[in-house]
Amino acid sequence: MSTYPNFRPRRMRRDDFSRRLMRENVLTTNDLIYPVFIMEGQNQRQAVASMPGVERVSVDLLMQVAEECLRLKVPVISLFPVIEPSLKTPDGIAATRADGLIPRAVRELKKHFPELGVLTDVALDPYTSHGLDGVLDASGYVLNDPTIDILIEQARTHAEAGVDIVAPSDMMDGRIAAIREMLEEGGHEYTRIMAYAAKFASAFYGPFRDAVGSASNLGKSDKMTFQMDPSNSDEAMREVALDIGEGADMVMVKPGMPYLDIVRRVKDEFRFPTYVYQVSGEYAMLKAAAQNGWLDHDRVVLESLLAFKRAGADGILTYFALDAARLLRANA
Ligand code: PBG
Repeated sequence: MSTYPNFRPRRMRRDDFSRRLMRENVLTTNDLIYPVFIMEGQNQRQAVASMPGVERVSVDLLMQVAEECLRLKVPVISLFPVIEPSLKTPDGIAATRADGLIPRAVRELKKHFPELGVLTDVALDPYTSHGLDGVLDASGYVLNDPTIDILIEQARTHAEAGVDIVAPSDMMDGRIAAIREMLEEGGHEYTRIMAYAAKFASAFYGPFRDAVGSASNLGKSDKMTFQMDPSNSDEAMREVALDIGEGADMVMVKPGMPYLDIVRRVKDEFRFPTYVYQVSGEYAMLKAAAQNGWLDHDRVVLESLLAFKRAGADGILTYFALDAARLLRANA
């Protein structure tokens, strides 16, 4: 039986007004989290070669970035440290220094821009001499519980500096419970935890490791013994269930575009605040193609972000956050 002419889906697509009327998902600046790489020094900025348009900035210049986030109504800024090589050790203990780069940056941000949300990464890889996210045994295996002991102290310094959200990105078992307990006992009951719940061992993190300077330390080792196998989807559901049970306020899927199926499953199965990280390699791909004139930059940026919303994400960590906020404003 033919459905023609009762069903003509193109009727609703014919005009702008009816397209707007049936639009299911929208991207707004409220959906964006802007990741920034920070470094020591005064008035310092360094381009990241594999991430055109992204810079490492010193804490004084970070204040200008924060001001721009507020102006563009981007709700949260996320910080990643570039740690001086002389501070890197096998156990990454510099991550627990109360006077470290991240706690200092958090204090400055909360002093000058208290209304801007600040998120910090909890993981040891920028601080370890081997570039892995934890303490190793003699065979080079990342030890779970000794790593958590250090992560707790790292998260404590962030909380004491006044951070709004800590985001454990290490994938150790049980770290959300341990960090939540520390926060509650330390009087930080309003510090939120965004758990990198389903974080895959991905080759799309390459440019990030250049940006924070862990790539050469890491060398040929991969993170398959603690990050998830890209083959798996049910395992991601178990990881999310654990992190929610342990006290996470928000869960994240990472990377983004190659893992949209995971975002959708997480949202459908848990109905929990769900975030996605459009990671460095995704950014680099889109930028490179746009720079070659092969893709329309502004349109692919907005389309890629809208796809996350359609997949069920409540928010997106993206190096395009400021670009996207400007485009959304211009298109409004
Ligand atoms: C560190 C961390 C990584 C990213 C965020 N936090 C890298 C990694 O796990 O190796 C990647 C982000 C990106 O690629 O943009 N634990």
